[in-house]
Amino acid sequence: MKAFSSFATASLASFRRSSSSRSSPSAEPTSLGPMTSGSIATITVDLGDRGYPVLVGHGARCELAAVLPDGIKRVAVITQAGIPWSVDPGVDSIRIEIPDGEAAKSLTVVEDVCRQLAVAGFTRADAIVAVGGGVVTDVGGFVAAVYHRGIRFVSVATTLLGQVDAAIGGKTGVNLPEGKNLVGAFWQPSAVICDTETLESLPRREFQCGVGEIAKYHFLGGGRLDELALDERVAACVQIKADVVMNDEREGGKRAILNYGHTLAHAIETAGQYDLRHGEAVAIGIRYAAEVAHRLGRIDAARVAEHERVLSAYELPSTVPDALADDALLALFASDKKAIDGVTFVLDGPAGVEVVVGIDATVLADSFAAVR
Ligand SMILES: NC(=O)c1ccc[n+]([C@@H]2O[C@H](COP(=O)([O-])OP(=O)(O)OC[C@H]3O[C@@H](n4cnc5c(N)ncnc54)[C@H](O)[C@@H]3O)[C@@H](O)[C@H]2O)c1
Ligand SMILES: [Zn+2]
Repeated sequence: MKAFSSFATASLASFRRSSSSRSSPSAEPTSLGPMTSGSIATITVDLGDRGYPVLVGHGARCELAAVLPDGIKRVAVITQAGIPWSVDPGVDSIRIEIPDGEAAKSLTVVEDVCRQLAVAGFTRADAIVAVGGGVVTDVGGFVAAVYHRGIRFVSVATTLLGQVDAAIGGKTGVNLPEGKNLVGAFWQPSAVICDTETLESLPRREFQCGVGEIAKYHFLGGGRLDELALDERVAACVQIKADVVMNDEREGGKRAILNYGHTLAHAIETAGQYDLRHGEAVAIGIRYAAEVAHRLGRIDAARVAEHERVLSAYELPSTVPDALADDALLALFASDKKAIDGVTFVLDGPAGVEVVVGIDATVLADSFAAVR
């Protein structure tokens, strides 16, 4: 890897917003805007020879050429038509667009992208750069894991959820009709770039989806993240996720704490079309998990109140849609893919957030009162 170029000396003219902008809030299509704001934080995900830097900050995408592994001849930029940000990898590149939405995480799309790489003659001397949210980085990362049995890739995360969660940690994959993320690989990127400037064009609902995951990090050691500026908050979340991943690269155990709030969230998402985004469902799940932990005597009322404070500070929902019955959600807990020994929950407690197995069904049923 080359030394990072300084932010100010990056080749600015070559970075621009794409003219295919659908949702850019600003009318100036060719300028990056002020380049002096803030600095770029670098967090290292230390996994030995699979380790990599995560660059966080306003305009961080300008560092792409500097973080590309040495010797890369060409780059395939995988992105979506609606993402109004482009990058300059500093080497020859082709652009591959994938469709929008969860449906794009399919083996059909993976095949299509791999075939475009093959037609273009891509080899292991080339790399993939995924520019987008979790859908793009999951697909791009998986293609990188399997094309020619693995080529290098860099994620440029452009959603808040992607920056604080999906792009970090090396989990890549796509869905099957039978379920989400059923085909995938652990494949670590060579670098991740979290350019907070790209969040300026993110629709509020998508932004809030990432905020739901940020709320989770408050209880994974983040503390009062809501008091930080956005760049610092993203960097703090990346650091927490990096720490967890470094302890458990392949999800043998500790990494499960990243699923804080997710058991109820998955049940809500599985139960139906309730117009809740993942991060919003996670927020409700966090409030519910606090209640379960309180009823089990693991946390006191003040800690429950801290959960409520965080959710309300972020204007996140904390109640389950009326149409969803407790019984239906309880039944879904048992089928959660993380359930191994009866109902397993990730709960806060004296030793912090941890996995708790075999939770009493009455406690789970009674705890719904807090999210109604
Ligand atoms: N691999 C992991 O560890 C991991 C972790 C969490 C989530 N995920 C996956 O991430 C996916 C969700 O990711 P997401 O929430 O980022 O959704 P997404 O990738 O679908 O992006 C949401 C929407 O925002 C658009 N968009 C992206 N960046 C934009 C920008 N800067 N300006 C305007 N529009 C922009 C996208 O085109 C899309 O329409 C899910 O498939 C989930 O399974 C993966
Ligand atoms: Zn999540």
